[in-house]
Amino acid sequence: MKKDTEKKEKGENTKGKIKILKDGPYLVSGSIPVTKETIVTGIDGNPLKWERVGEYPVQETYALCRCGQSKNKPYCDGTHTKIGFDGTETADRRKYVDQAEAIEGPDLIMIDAEELCAKARFCHRAGNTWNLTKKSDDSKSKEIAIEEACDCPSGRLVAWDKNSKKAIEPKFEPSISLTEAPYRKISGPLWVKGNILIESANGTMYEKRNRVTLCRCGKSRNKPFCDGTHFPTGFKDGDPSIE
Ligand code: FES
Repeated sequence: MKKDTEKKEKGENTKGKIKILKDGPYLVSGSIPVTKETIVTGIDGNPLKWERVGEYPVQETYALCRCGQSKNKPYCDGTHTKIGFDGTETADRRKYVDQAEAIEGPDLIMIDAEELCAKARFCHRAGNTWNLTKKSDDSKSKEIAIEEACDCPSGRLVAWDKNSKKAIEPKFEPSISLTEAPYRKISGPLWVKGNILIESANGTMYEKRNRVTLCRCGKSRNKPFCDGTHFPTGFKDGDPSIE
């Protein structure tokens, strides 16, 4: 109990877990809320912000579809067994920082693990995150670079303050968002926020992170994480905004 209190004080998640079932769904426990969020674009057509557009009734445990073909999305309906879904986990198990490279600017360091890209494309606005980082002695460029990194759902990009040597992370309560990109008419991954534990089908734990994206189209080559394959394959989960 004392450990839980210490973790809460440090802002760490103390309850809830996502268990990956072999060639099956994500089994979620701990009453983790599920919402739906869409990408809103700016006047230049690039992603500008996230907007929450819906939520699902809170349940203590539930199974979220991982193969992309349930008729009862976002929940599993057992279709994975009928289609012989191969959910083999192929992701790099090294820590995030060991997979990433650092782009150093005058006032900001951008850590970037490209393998984790979920193609949300927030990094494209205002001349792109990498260029903005290189101009981070300009306060507006620095501000936008930080915004873009914080909007990156997969945590591919993490901005670090160069002076304090600390990661700049958005504050998230534990939750899971179904993401949608209406401007591209596609559905995206599950956006897992707030340091939720993720357990592999083999019983080992993934590195706990403030934000990651889990594949829900079934086609990622970097399972369980999204690698952006939903983008060229045009995954649609049936949401009216992307029909
Ligand atoms: S949801 Fe992005 S690759 Fe499957």
